[in-house]
Amino acid sequence: MERLDKILALQGTLSRKDAKETVKNGRVAVNGVTVRDSSLKISETDTVTVDGKELSLKKHIYIMLNKPSGIVSASDSKCEKTVIDLVPEKFLRSGLFPAGRLDKDTLGFVLITDDGDFAHRILSPKNHIVKTYEARLAGTLAKSQREILQSGITLSDGTTCKESRVSIIEDGDAPLVRIQICEGKYHQIKRMFAAAGNKVTYLKRIKIGNLDLDKALLPGECREITPEELEKIENGKFFSEF
Ligand code: URA
Repeated sequence: MERLDKILALQGTLSRKDAKETVKNGRVAVNGVTVRDSSLKISETDTVTVDGKELSLKKHIYIMLNKPSGIVSASDSKCEKTVIDLVPEKFLRSGLFPAGRLDKDTLGFVLITDDGDFAHRILSPKNHIVKTYEARLAGTLAKSQREILQSGITLSDGTTCKESRVSIIEDGDAPLVRIQICEGKYHQIKRMFAAAGNKVTYLKRIKIGNLDLDKALLPGECREITPEELEKIENGKFFSEF
């Protein structure tokens, strides 16, 4: 049970003061009845609306975004459009952040949440949650390059990367490959291929753990992740499914 003004402030984009004011002005209804007392205790089974729009009373929210190119993976930026700017109003609440960053020109699956513990669990390399990417390369992928990448490559600045898994989806002069890693070092995949003597010209994250990016989501679109899907993410440990 939480106070109504606290719930409004946590779930929406209102400050606690604005939440109180919103209730006072008769814009909030609980289970269909307009209320004016901000201290009212609300449980998860109640229905709360603001100006007729229903709020989510869930403790945390987990959103799958199909990130387009040109958007930064940050919570806010003074001059650039961020992944949070793409979240529809119905999912907005305070404390949202991307759990793991993609480069501005990388596409695909970004998980946005307000649950710091969950984010830590899926990002910590110790937990080995696999992140799967599709990459287009500028040159053919030699067997030796693939072997170095898979066994754990050392980058040009001496940073070492753990093992990865690389498979070819489309062979040729500019092959399309699938690569799986369980870390999130800065520009990791681009730098891994560079260290192996190749170049990434296109990069898309297609899966986190065992959860695929929903093919129905157009670039820039989001949807909520279900509890069953969250389990699929946490069950997707390195090499358990390839
Ligand atoms: N590796 C990269 O190089 N870039 C990304 O955006 C993600 C992984």
